[in-house]
Amino acid sequence: MRRIFDIEKGMQKNEAYTFRKKIHPEDRRIFDKAVIESIKKNESVTSEFRIICNSTIKYVSSIIYSSNREDDATILRGTVQDITDRKIAEQKLLEIKQLKSEHEKKLRDAIFLTKEREQKRIAQELHDDIGSSLTVIKFALHQLDLSDDKKSNLNNSLTAIIKKVRNLSNELSPSILEEFGLFNALRNLIETIKDSTPIVATFISNVSEIIGLNKDVEISIYRIVQELLTNILKYSNATTVDVSFNLGKDKIELTISDNGNGFIPSKQIFKKDSLGLMNIESRIEYIHATIKYKKNTPRGTIVKIEKKIQ
Ligand SMILES: Nc1ncnc2c1ncn2[C@@H]1O[C@H](COP(=O)(O)OP(=O)(O)O)[C@@H](O)[C@H]1O
Ligand SMILES: [Mg+2]
Repeated sequence: MRRIFDIEKGMQKNEAYTFRKKIHPEDRRIFDKAVIESIKKNESVTSEFRIICNSTIKYVSSIIYSSNREDDATILRGTVQDITDRKIAEQKLLEIKQLKSEHEKKLRDAIFLTKEREQKRIAQELHDDIGSSLTVIKFALHQLDLSDDKKSNLNNSLTAIIKKVRNLSNELSPSILEEFGLFNALRNLIETIKDSTPIVATFISNVSEIIGLNKDVEISIYRIVQELLTNILKYSNATTVDVSFNLGKDKIELTISDNGNGFIPSKQIFKKDSLGLMNIESRIEYIHATIKYKKNTPRGTIVKIEKKIQ
């Protein structure tokens, strides 16, 4: 103990005081608490604290035992172990962990960017190349030597395929977002639900144009709402969906509520194989926003997204 505390041999006056004085001022309470606890409970108590020897800091682990003597005095005994190396290794490990999670975040952000870019490329190919070629074929159809019936059938099939290609292209990379902005893109998502499903869908906004958000934020919000709406269609059995957008002075709020089965995702869901919710979490983190899932009354789910703006 003398070696660890760097205290010379030979009994001194107030020896206990000499040792205690070497404990880091911020950690003396830890030591005192351990002593008191050991006396009170009459059992051994382990504590960890720092000591200062020649202006370097050491970490120690100490076990204090107390026992009562017949004459009512209390004897305190203890052991001290130098755990500085272990503590430093632990701190290094923590730093490495932090670095790793920062690296993972950067990697995830890069994946989003790459994925979005790649989807855009495929969308353009579908729209400009395949879509245009199909349209050319459709117009060339009239020159073919076929019965009107056959022409009409072919024409209908081609029209349907062209529409599918256009929808697919738009789903991959929403050109409406780039051309007409987030407000119109969100409204379009709702319109599509209204037109193609029996669900009653509404979109309310306190502004008729959402400007000033950067492209990454816009596309992320769009993708999040797209995923939430897809989930509602797939799983909720809802008959109504309401999306509301509110542009405040210093934040935007987006609420998506349904009257379906209702679900509150737990962290376990995120960890399992539900990619959709996990991607939403990552995108939320990416744009520094927050997302909350609440129960709707009488049934269904309310999802609230908030993002601070300057
Ligand atoms: N609006 C909703 N209402 C009810 N259940 C939902 C809703 N959204 C998601 N869920 C549930 O959460 C699970 C995870 O969703 P998600 O991560 O998007 O995965 P995926 O859509 O690939 O199944 C779904 O399988 C579903 O059980
Ligand atoms: Mg999903």
